[in-house]
Amino acid sequence: MSSLTPRLEIQNITRVFGGRTVVDDVSLKVMPGQVTCLLGPSGCGKSTTLRVIAGVDMQDSGNIFIDGNLVCDTVFRVPPERRSVGLMFQDFALFPHLSVAENVAFGLSGSRAEKRRRVEQLLERVDLLGHIDDYPHQLSGGEQQRVALVRALAPRPKIMLMDEPFSGLDNRLRDEIRDDTLSVLKEEGAAVLLVTHEPDEAMRMADEIALMRHGKIVQQGAPYNIYNAPVDRAAAAFFSDINVIRGKVKNLLTETAFGQFLTPAMPDGSEVDIIIRPQHIRIDFDRNGRGPNPTPETGVAARAVVERARFMGSESLVEFRMDYDGTMLKVTVPAVFLPRPGTAMWLMIRRDRCFVFPAPGHERAA
Ligand SMILES: Nc1ncnc2c1ncn2[C@@H]1O[C@H](COP(=O)(O)OP(=O)(O)O)[C@@H](O)[C@H]1O
Ligand SMILES: [Mg+2]
Repeated sequence: MSSLTPRLEIQNITRVFGGRTVVDDVSLKVMPGQVTCLLGPSGCGKSTTLRVIAGVDMQDSGNIFIDGNLVCDTVFRVPPERRSVGLMFQDFALFPHLSVAENVAFGLSGSRAEKRRRVEQLLERVDLLGHIDDYPHQLSGGEQQRVALVRALAPRPKIMLMDEPFSGLDNRLRDEIRDDTLSVLKEEGAAVLLVTHEPDEAMRMADEIALMRHGKIVQQGAPYNIYNAPVDRAAAAFFSDINVIRGKVKNLLTETAFGQFLTPAMPDGSEVDIIIRPQHIRIDFDRNGRGPNPTPETGVAARAVVERARFMGSESLVEFRMDYDGTMLKVTVPAVFLPRPGTAMWLMIRRDRCFVFPAPGHERAA
């Protein structure tokens, strides 16, 4: 087995329930030591994909390989307990009648002494050695979560499958537990496939994100790339608020309040959406009706009037009405700045942060 063999590879997995294709031709690789997040809105087929990989459900077509070995196609099937897969779900129920030690040792084989050593090693790692003889009801939610994590990791699975494992925790705990979980997973070296509907969680945890929609993977890549080069408007909107500047193509150019944009791939008369995130719009003061000079990075500045400004803690969200066409743009700025409604200002958009897509209904026929 070469070091480039994926720990997990699924090829063309499809799952149909009652005539409805819920997972649609999904292919994915997870490399050893890597965390891949399957990210998408509720109902898009994430859990079904994970259940098929775990072997608790079976695909209608497609193949699953672990370390290059076929574990399941539509005929052949290795049972779940022999796939070397660790599972952790949102309702990660610990066995209530077993102690912490017994819970963690549950899936372990070997001598009593060996089992005890592994249990102690893992509990020590997550700071729960002092609770080794406690029962689950004596632990806080966060402590139970850590026990469930090490229980799943105890048999040294090759792959950890985690389905929204943090969604039952309250917000303040969650960030810390996510980070701790990530470092334990990295130390153990398991390949991780983590399902979540929260982009922040995926960005925080993932080496690689697979963005899923209506049963299909629509984009896959490092968090930085997915965020900064979305495949379409919906992919951009999944990660943050977006602004949409609509324009019409003429002679390969689109005229906007911020100057012309090159839109070479689009036919004349078709509409385009120029997408910009609120944090990538710069603002400047109005100097007696004049704004800053144009630059290559930002094009021309456009005048706008503050409609609303809200203090959000670390930043302010300011909504502007554009002089150009009356449309609204949202801008986030550091919270030290909170302009009054009615204030005229100038906006500039970072051109390297704009994404240009055909407007809905103006996509070119493939
Ligand atoms: N066993 C099942 N029988 C019928 N429909 C199912 C079954 N499991 C899931 N579904 C449907 O498949 C779709 C995807 O579900 P799921 O994989 O749980 O999505 P996600 O985890 O992304 O929220 C949903 O519409 C769900 O109702
Ligand atoms: Mg789910």
